[in-house]
Amino acid sequence: MSREIARRDFLKAAAAGAAGLAAASVLGGAAAFAEDAPEAGKPFEGKKKFAGVGSVRMVTDDIVYVGVSDRRIELFENVYPIPRGVAYNSYVLLDEKTVLIDTVDRSVTGQFFENLTAALDGRALDYLVVNHMEPDHSSAISEVLVRYPNAQVVCTKAAAAILNQFFACDITDRAILVGEGDTLRVGRHTLSFVMAPMVHWPEVMMTFDTETGILFSADAFGSFGALNGNLFADEVDFEKDWLPDARRYYCNIVGKYGPQVQAVLKKAAGVPIQMLCPTHGPVWRRDLSWILEKYDLWSSYTPEEKAVMVVYGSVYGGTESAANALAAQLSRGGVADVAVYDVSKTHVSELIAEAFRCSHIVLASITYNMGIFTPMKNFLLDLEAHNLQNRAFAIVENGSWSPASGRLMREIVGRLTDCSIVGDTVTIRSSPGKGDSDALQQLADAVSASLLDAGEVLDAEKAPAAKKWICKVCGYVYEGDEVPEDYVCPICGAGKAAFEEG
Ligand code: FEO
Repeated sequence: MSREIARRDFLKAAAAGAAGLAAASVLGGAAAFAEDAPEAGKPFEGKKKFAGVGSVRMVTDDIVYVGVSDRRIELFENVYPIPRGVAYNSYVLLDEKTVLIDTVDRSVTGQFFENLTAALDGRALDYLVVNHMEPDHSSAISEVLVRYPNAQVVCTKAAAAILNQFFACDITDRAILVGEGDTLRVGRHTLSFVMAPMVHWPEVMMTFDTETGILFSADAFGSFGALNGNLFADEVDFEKDWLPDARRYYCNIVGKYGPQVQAVLKKAAGVPIQMLCPTHGPVWRRDLSWILEKYDLWSSYTPEEKAVMVVYGSVYGGTESAANALAAQLSRGGVADVAVYDVSKTHVSELIAEAFRCSHIVLASITYNMGIFTPMKNFLLDLEAHNLQNRAFAIVENGSWSPASGRLMREIVGRLTDCSIVGDTVTIRSSPGKGDSDALQQLADAVSASLLDAGEVLDAEKAPAAKKWICKVCGYVYEGDEVPEDYVCPICGAGKAAFEEG
């Protein structure tokens, strides 16, 4: 294990990678793809016949994909509908030593062990690298350790503790605990470990293979959606068929942790990454800058599009009618990208993803029990929980005798960082009448003008944004006015002195 070698690698790469995200693009395209360009004498060739059945794919000439897709699952994390299923990605590196990188969810262990057995082809397993302890990637670990009794587990100290919490699995006598910059040489390949706390749990790390330039990136760069034999993003029409699920995955699973993702992107900008191997969804070997730029937008809370999302909560159709009228007025005013959603009908994870995509959000809600319509309130609280920032909102309220939803929605918007209210709240009484048409038109005009950066944007009652303090040792982000004197980083144990304002 050499901390020095790894630091040198990253510093050297950082110096070479001053071009930032573009570096990944320039370097995009892996050095070797066994299926495309087999090399004689390598342990696997492109047309390798694997023992057993298995559903493996070659990632490079000596890295095998052994992950499994689940098409039976209805709700990811028992929350998010995934009609296209999901893939749990896992990889085997075959060098002088063999290395398994992450495992799979318990629902697919049968296929996983078929794949793993086929990939190892009779060899023992020497190392299991655990980048992320969430059970969708770790619930096969206990069985791996039983099947391969000599395998050592490479993970963070925090991961070892969580493994024991979830599965009563004490790995004390077979663990190699690693931190930022540690490396593990396994033959031709050297693995370097990059701490990525809160992307998406505190124990997360990524593993960089300095030989191939592959970053095994845990949840980062992942997507909902089962793999259908194809493994690489360039084997599918990613923008058309995968981007909505990739966005929905990122925003709902990792969206809250933008500063931590930004910290990892800064590290990635300085590293000669040639391939991204996430724990869900396709592998990226080409056009890396495209997905890195998406992540840069999402994690900095920058809208992807100048677009208007109109979300309405309606019981008897009056608020729905107002929302439709406003959408038509926006369109007549030249706004090309308008999307209208019934908050009761659209899953909140879709709404969260759209809110990350669109620059402007119109909220139209009835008053319900003297409050905000429950599904709308749920959506807004979920937006707040996911830390959405830097958006312009417009408000339409409805109340038959005592409208209150507008004021209450403004209060929640006021708590969001760098969010503003465009135009005046439009108040509907039961159903929109003639007079409301003018008010809605004025609101549409204000939103259109704001979209063109020409309108007057009225500041909402903003709560001051919390300061962010980044641990120089591991990248963990503490939010608050000051780091307390006795504060200890929950990831690496560093004290207050290690934190600098980010
Ligand atoms: Fe795919 Fe955070 O687990």
